[in-house]
Amino acid sequence: MKRATLIAIAALMLSGAAVSQQTTATATSAAPAQATATAPSTAVPAPTVAKPGLYLGVATCANSGCHGSTQPLNASRVLQNEYYSWLNRDRHAQAYNVLFNDRSARIARNMRLKGKAYREKVCLDCHSTSVTPAMTAGHVDLEDGVQCEACHGPASGWRDEHTQAGWTHEQSVARGMIDLRAPIVRADMCLVCHLGDQTREVDHELIGAGHPILAFELDNYTETMPPHWHWNNTHGVRAWATGQVVEFRDSVANLARHARGQKWPEFSDMSCYNYHHSLKNSTWRQERGWPDRAGLPSWSPQHWAVLRMIVNRAAPGQRAQLEDLVNQLALKVARMNDPAGVAQAADAAKRIADGLVPAVDRMNWSDSDVRSLMSAIADDQDFIRRSDVHSAEQVALTLQSLGSSLTRRDSKLVKGPMTKAIDALFDELQNRDDYEPSRFAQKLAAVKATL
Ligand code: HEC
Ligand code: HEC
Ligand code: HEC
Repeated sequence: MKRATLIAIAALMLSGAAVSQQTTATATSAAPAQATATAPSTAVPAPTVAKPGLYLGVATCANSGCHGSTQPLNASRVLQNEYYSWLNRDRHAQAYNVLFNDRSARIARNMRLKGKAYREKVCLDCHSTSVTPAMTAGHVDLEDGVQCEACHGPASGWRDEHTQAGWTHEQSVARGMIDLRAPIVRADMCLVCHLGDQTREVDHELIGAGHPILAFELDNYTETMPPHWHWNNTHGVRAWATGQVVEFRDSVANLARHARGQKWPEFSDMSCYNYHHSLKNSTWRQERGWPDRAGLPSWSPQHWAVLRMIVNRAAPGQRAQLEDLVNQLALKVARMNDPAGVAQAADAAKRIADGLVPAVDRMNWSDSDVRSLMSAIADDQDFIRRSDVHSAEQVALTLQSLGSSLTRRDSKLVKGPMTKAIDALFDELQNRDDYEPSRFAQKLAAVKATL
């Protein structure tokens, strides 16, 4: 959990109002000539292909008249400086370079990979736009890391067409663009790398070898990318809520797959910090006790930690049933001796979540809904005392996300006590090894007092 992420969010909120003004202001000054002068040197002529589903490479998006302006323009619905933002400020552009660092070398060594990290598919699948030659019709360079098409889909079917007058977003989607305007689709897309799926995963072997444990919350992570889009109401609270339920669904699907396959028990489903912790500092764990036999590893309830509150609103009738399945999962995962039972409970939880996804995505959230939800979450200190650092991260990210939705409408709140109290939660999360549930719970009480 990186504090930087959240500082960036706070900065974004502070500049929220300024950004839209700036977009208008630069429209007059950003002459096309200026943009051309600083156009990326990698720009190459577009290959002539029309077959959809092929990757063309980032250079084909980067022309100054398209997405390669150095400043946001006001000539079209899009900002047009997406390439520039991505290249200079977005970590995704660096995702491949990371594979050359010492940490990556250590991970590769510990995993006994045959080649260097930057040559291994297991790393490239998430740290670059890893596609086979048969899937490309341009110059797709691994060095470009996670480039436009990794998120927006292969461009051959719509690259030329999408700038034509009258061409719609829906037409692009029909020709292979991923519909990121839909929060459900967007969440699924990010989660492929930020949670993992059947094709790629940061499993316990990677974590044991030294890979960071992943954390993700759709709204925070989207708005700190940095954003290269105009904010709209498919972001904010809706993205947070939909992201939570999609992430739960995808995580129980992963769990069911682990339980059915060779990788069982798969410890990345559990709370590493629950038992890999220096025993010297683990009095909190002994204070808290275990739901089953003492000392068993626990399933991490991180994807359930705040979803519970959403289910209370979206489908109160299903809360008890889902909670029961989650409790079964927690017990069965900890005992490790009934993978078939785990798979069955995970499948059942996934079926309920499948139904919840569209229901949650359709919900409307007023400011007073948001406040009462924040209150309920901040009040739930008992849950926090019984769960793990990953759940605390979800709680903090959630309060940050919901808090931002209030500050977005009332800029006075940005420097107010609520924002400060939420920021203080992240001090507890800087280093997962030092996490202490009772301190975090106290800080939650402080958030509650500001609401
Ligand atoms: C399922 C996707 C996935 C796979 C597979 C994966 N990574 Fe990562 N990796 C990530 C994500 C996402 C992050 C960013 C984590 C964050 O900050 O939330 C990351 C972060 C890292 C970091 C820390 C980055 C930094 O700036 O210090 C290193 C190093 C790293 N990965 C190396 C590797 C290596 C080496 C492999 C292959 C053995 C690998 N990764 C496989 C998704 C993946
Ligand atoms: C890590 C994923 C990711 C990468 C990489 C990425 N984008 Fe995006 N992009 C998004 C998301 C998320 C949105 C917001 C979609 C929405 O809410 O409508 C977006 C929105 C956009 C929009 C506004 C589209 C609209 O429908 O209003 C444009 C244009 C765009 N991206 C172009 C690019 C270009 C060009 C690149 C490469 C230089 C790029 N993107 C790289 C995720 C990504
Ligand atoms: C193809 C895999 C992939 C996809 C798809 C992807 N990411 Fe990432 N993302 C990564 C990797 C790898 C890193 C780590 C890069 C590094 O450390 O330099 C990363 C880093 C990030 C970071 C920086 C994290 C930090 O700790 O500072 C954010 C924020 C982020 N991603 C958000 C998103 C969002 C939001 C989406 C979907 C709209 C998305 N990503 C889609 C692979 C991906």
